Amino acid sequence: MGTVFVTQRLPDGGLDPLTHAGHEIRPRAADTPVPHDELCAAAGAADAIVCLLTDRIDAEVVAAGAPRLKVVANVAVGYDNVNVGAASAAGVVVCNTPGVLDETTADLAFTLILAASRRLGEAEADLRAGRWTGWGIGQYLGQDVHGAILGVVGWGRIGSAVGRRAAGFGMEVLHHARCPTGDPGYVGDLDDLFRRSDVISLHVPLTDETHHLVDARRLSLMKPTAVLVNTARGPVVDEEALAVALEAGQIFAAGLDVYEHEPVVHPRLLAAPRTVLLPHIGSASLATRTRMARMAAADVVAVLAGRPPAHPVG
Ligand code: DGY
Repeated sequence: MGTVFVTQRLPDGGLDPLTHAGHEIRPRAADTPVPHDELCAAAGAADAIVCLLTDRIDAEVVAAGAPRLKVVANVAVGYDNVNVGAASAAGVVVCNTPGVLDETTADLAFTLILAASRRLGEAEADLRAGRWTGWGIGQYLGQDVHGAILGVVGWGRIGSAVGRRAAGFGMEVLHHARCPTGDPGYVGDLDDLFRRSDVISLHVPLTDETHHLVDARRLSLMKPTAVLVNTARGPVVDEEALAVALEAGQIFAAGLDVYEHEPVVHPRLLAAPRTVLLPHIGSASLATRTRMARMAAADVVAVLAGRPPAHPVG
């Protein structure tokens, strides 16, 4: 049986597949990212690591784990925190948790589409702070979501789930992906999608190609009434450029769940008008987070039993 280092506390029942298979679990009883030196030390004494997107599994961790470490299971669909190249070169399998969080994350993306378009952040903050003095015909005027054009960037499982929700809200749905999807609403030119959309929702992984995909130039293509929503990864958007665009009224609003330097949020974004800012809770329902943990644990069980995991990456 193997030894499995678990970097943070996971939802109850999330590690059941490991327990049932008889593996020894070395859990870290904390809700904070594991310090790098502690991670290296733990990697050297483990056959497997179950980690989160806040844990940086770099070449140093992989080297520290050699030759015992067999698998790193990231409890997230995004895996930009893992150096997959270094892991593969060392024969360490990397797994993620696709599929189980699609609908939950799409729910949150749609929440942000509604909240940012209708200025819920400011309205609620004013009410709570006692600044609301009564109904006014000119207060908190937002943009209609029904009848608007949604541009989805990245037409994978989550992006298309957002598209389904938008259709139910009477939106016209366009989408962009690197290759033609064959689905109605495909727009091959990303700039064109930015020009035509009333709401842009981002659903691409973070890679060298998608880093600052939304920069000052792309923001300048958007309508002054347009809304930007990001539930993917923070560095896909140049936050400084976004803050400038919001301050200048170049775009109408932004709804963000992810940031370039989490947990730090760019101070100009915190102060920017018409923003709804959430603390990276896209997949945060109890059921989904439990499913994610179980999926990662089940893949560790598979690898340690000499079987291929169901969700390898790289
Ligand atoms: C992911 O899985 O990549 C999300 O960002 C967190 O659930």
